[in-house]
Amino acid sequence: MEIPDFSSLKLSRPELFDFEGVSMVHYFTDNWEKVKNFQARPDDILIATYPKAGTTWVSYILDLLYFGNDQEHQTSQPIYMRVPFLESFFKVISSGTELADNLPTSPRLIKTHLPVQLVPKSFWEQNSKIVYVARNAKDNAVSYFHFDRMNMVQPEPGNWNTFLQKFMEGKNVFGPWYDHVNGWWEKKQTYSNLLYLFYEDLVEDTGREVEHLCSFLGLSTSIEEREKITKGVQFDAMKQNKMTNYSTIPVMDFKISPFMRKGKVGDWKNHFTVAQNEQFNEVYKQKMKNTTVKFRTEI
Ligand code: PPS
Repeated sequence: MEIPDFSSLKLSRPELFDFEGVSMVHYFTDNWEKVKNFQARPDDILIATYPKAGTTWVSYILDLLYFGNDQEHQTSQPIYMRVPFLESFFKVISSGTELADNLPTSPRLIKTHLPVQLVPKSFWEQNSKIVYVARNAKDNAVSYFHFDRMNMVQPEPGNWNTFLQKFMEGKNVFGPWYDHVNGWWEKKQTYSNLLYLFYEDLVEDTGREVEHLCSFLGLSTSIEEREKITKGVQFDAMKQNKMTNYSTIPVMDFKISPFMRKGKVGDWKNHFTVAQNEQFNEVYKQKMKNTTVKFRTEI
C-alpha cells in the first residue's frame, strides 16, 4: 500500500480566520487560486459535505460502485488518495488539486467540504454530477467535536460546552452547519445534477441508498453487486479496513478518538445536557426558519 509520509508535518493546531465570510484554516485556503480555477470535467463526481456528515462512507460506496472490481485500485491506496480532498493543502502530500488533476480514473471522484458558494465554477459549467451528504446538526456537532479533539491539524475544540457554543455561532472550519446544508439544499432546487442524501437514511437502509445512488448516476449495477457493496461499507467493515479507517494518518490520534468512532444516529443524547438541548433547539429554530430541509435526530 502506498501511504503518504506525514512525518514532517508541523503539529501546531491552526487558527481559525475569516475567508470570504466563512471560518477557515490555512490548510484549505493556501492553494486557493488553484482551487478556484480547478478544471472540472463533465464526468467528474463531486462528493460534497459539511465535515463529519458521512463523506468517507459515500466516497467508499462510489469508489466501489465504479472501481470495486479493480483489485489493484482497491488495495494500493487509501480512500483519501483515491478520492482527493479538493481544497486540502498539507504540503507533505500532494495538494487536492494536484491529486485530482493526476487521477487516472474515469470518472474522477472528488471530495469537498466547501460551502456551495465557494465551489469552483467549472463544476457548474461542466454540469458535473454532485452528491451532497447532510447529517443532522446534533450528531454532526458531536462527531465534529471528537474529530477536533483527535486531529492535530484542526483548531483546538476546548471542552464540549465550549465547542457546542462555537458550533451554534458557526465558528468551525467550513463555517456554520446551518448555512452549509441550507445553501446546498437551495442549489438542489435549480441544479438537477445534484443528489442530496441524508446520513440518517444511509444508516436506516444502506442498500436502499446505494440503489438511490445507482439510479442518480445511471448505473445498472446488479443486485448481487449492490448487496456485496452494501455489506462492505457497513461501519464495522470500514472500521477494520485500513484503506478506509484513516489509520494511516499520524496527525490523527486514535487513542483520543478513532476516525470511525460510533457511526450512529442519536449519539448526541449521550452528550447534550437538557439545558444545552433547549438552547440548541432555540438557535436551530431561528437559523432554519426559512428552509424546507428536514432532518431526523433519531431513527
Ligand atoms: S470527514 O473527516 O469530514 O471526511 O468525516 P466524514 O467521513 O464525513 O464523517 C465521519 C463520520 O461518519 C461516520 N461513518 C460511518 N457511519 C456509519 N457507517 C459507516 N460505514 C461510516 N463510515 C463513516 C464516522 O464514524 C464518523 O461519525 P461518528 O459519529 O463520529 O462516528
